[in-house]
Amino acid sequence: MFPQHIGRYEVKRELGRGGMATVFVAFDPEFERDVAVKVLPREFLHDPHFRARFKREAKIIAALEHPAIVPVYDYGEDDGQPFIVMRLMPGGSLADRLKQGPLTLPEVARIFTRLAGALDEAHRRGIIHRDLKPGNILLDSQGDPYVSDFGMAKLTQGASSFSGSTIMGTPAYMSPEQAKGEHDLDGRSDIYALGAILFEMLTGKLPYDADSPMGIAVKHITEPVPRILDVKPDLPPGCEDVIRQAMAKDRRDRFPTANALVTTLQTLTAPSTHPQPSRPQPEPATQKAKPEVHETPTQPLGCSFVLRWALASAAGGAVGLPILALVIAVGAATAQAAGNVAATAIISAIGMGIALSLFGGAVAFAQWFVLRRLIPAVRWWVPASAAVWASIGLVLGFIVGIGAGRG
Ligand SMILES: Nc1ncnc2c1ncn2[C@@H]1O[C@H](COP(=O)(O)OP(=O)(O)OP(=O)(O)O)[C@@H](O)[C@H]1O
Ligand SMILES: [Mg+2]
Repeated sequence: MFPQHIGRYEVKRELGRGGMATVFVAFDPEFERDVAVKVLPREFLHDPHFRARFKREAKIIAALEHPAIVPVYDYGEDDGQPFIVMRLMPGGSLADRLKQGPLTLPEVARIFTRLAGALDEAHRRGIIHRDLKPGNILLDSQGDPYVSDFGMAKLTQGASSFSGSTIMGTPAYMSPEQAKGEHDLDGRSDIYALGAILFEMLTGKLPYDADSPMGIAVKHITEPVPRILDVKPDLPPGCEDVIRQAMAKDRRDRFPTANALVTTLQTLTAPSTHPQPSRPQPEPATQKAKPEVHETPTQPLGCSFVLRWALASAAGGAVGLPILALVIAVGAATAQAAGNVAATAIISAIGMGIALSLFGGAVAFAQWFVLRRLIPAVRWWVPASAAVWASIGLVLGFIVGIGAGRG
């Protein structure tokens, strides 16, 4: 059951329910168009300051104009129930789109390019979204994305908690500072959420998962930034850097603007680029400088690099060794049966070449697997290593073959 009227709006049907509100499709007889009416729970009005805050915040949100922000047309109260009227977005949300599976990098870059302008414009005006997530990115009939519910989290603040199912928004995209309950937030909390959304759009998985909302929130605060290439290894390696910088625990290490994030993302979609790890951008003028803090322990060079290289090579070698032994044994038996020196040398060279190239390939693959950030292109690393080992094998095999043939 739903109301027939909300203010002057004639309710047609329910669109959906979120954590705090119910959204209806309604007809506006004044402008003769369909709109989306978002009705907030009556309980809000128990807060004596809510009405004043609602008006103040709704005005600010309604004044926020950008081609990629869902416009707010009206707000009001109907029989003690506050509501907000917005443009009706017929294409569903990005959360609906994600149910069909992850998006490609160019698709994501296109969506983010549009959204970045909207976010930066809002942040310039001092308005933070606070609850950026795929469910709050709505699509029009052309599939173009719009940010919705700007500032709604602040509007409904105080009526929420982490307990039970009625949490304000979901902590799945929540920055560590929000999860800690800090109050002096700025646009960089939205940049963090953008990073978490990017992770989900490219992989189809959330960056952190846990059994409870509180468990997820704690992971945002304490766990290292997840490595996107571990979830989806075929993405360009530069994606790792974008996620790491967007989701940095310390907001001073994040991209300062959504546009800076998108600019880096776009370089990854260019087919022939060899993206460099991006560096944190200069901080906004109001922030004090601080030494860089990176939460992932990965160091490109140094002791851990040498150790990891050695361990990876040993692991690859251990896998390659039985293949090496088998091919050499078969090669040696065939070569000895050949009868003359030249044939023995040639068969031995080919056998040793194949054996060492397989061995080298296994070692190279293990090296790439462990040190993907330093060896971005497995496509050339494994074949090139295998080729070098094969040439060594050919020469060695030839020499050994001549010796064996003569003996
Ligand atoms: N302007 C709109 N046009 C079309 N659909 C909308 C519009 N606004 C919201 N919806 C849809 O209505 C449903 C409820 O939206 P609502 O914003 O209340 O919840 P939510 O974004 O999922 O969660 P939260 O309460 O955290 O914001 C969602 O499925 C959303 O896609
Ligand atoms: Mg919403």
